[in-house]
Amino acid sequence: MKVTMTVNGRARTFDVEPNRLLLNLLREDLDLTGAKYGCGMGECGACTVLLDGEPVMACMTLAVDCEGATIETVEGLSSGEALHPIQEAFIEEGAVQCGFCTPGFIMATKALLGESPEPTEPEIREYLKGNICRCTGYVNIVKAVQRAAEALR
Ligand code: FES
Ligand code: FES
Repeated sequence: MKVTMTVNGRARTFDVEPNRLLLNLLREDLDLTGAKYGCGMGECGACTVLLDGEPVMACMTLAVDCEGATIETVEGLSSGEALHPIQEAFIEEGAVQCGFCTPGFIMATKALLGESPEPTEPEIREYLKGNICRCTGYVNIVKAVQRAAEALR
């Protein structure tokens, strides 16, 4: 099936099997390997990307359902050598350890701050509850989101 979507600002057309996952399309066809395959079951958030500005689990999203959609991945955030303020904040607060979960957290954070520029700590924790990190213990991730929020205001 033919499917056309805009990925990180660029229009793309693909010929896909009806069961092709968005995550595999991004990683294998476009080499956008920021979104990770963690659980493959919608449980960990490592594959989070934005679909029309909303965070989705790319491991649970069919490519054919993205017809006409705008997809954003972590690769689309930086401009040239300059990292996005959310990426900077994650580094500054030590919210990245192994990094496996980080692209998913960053994309979910972008969506959160788009909806709520000044989120409280409980709001941050609630919004990001679908993203699992096995390394940081979340404290630094919350601080990174707060720092990013401040930088973006
Ligand atoms: S890999 Fe998609 S939610 Fe875990
Ligand atoms: S930094 Fe390792 S899983 Fe989050």
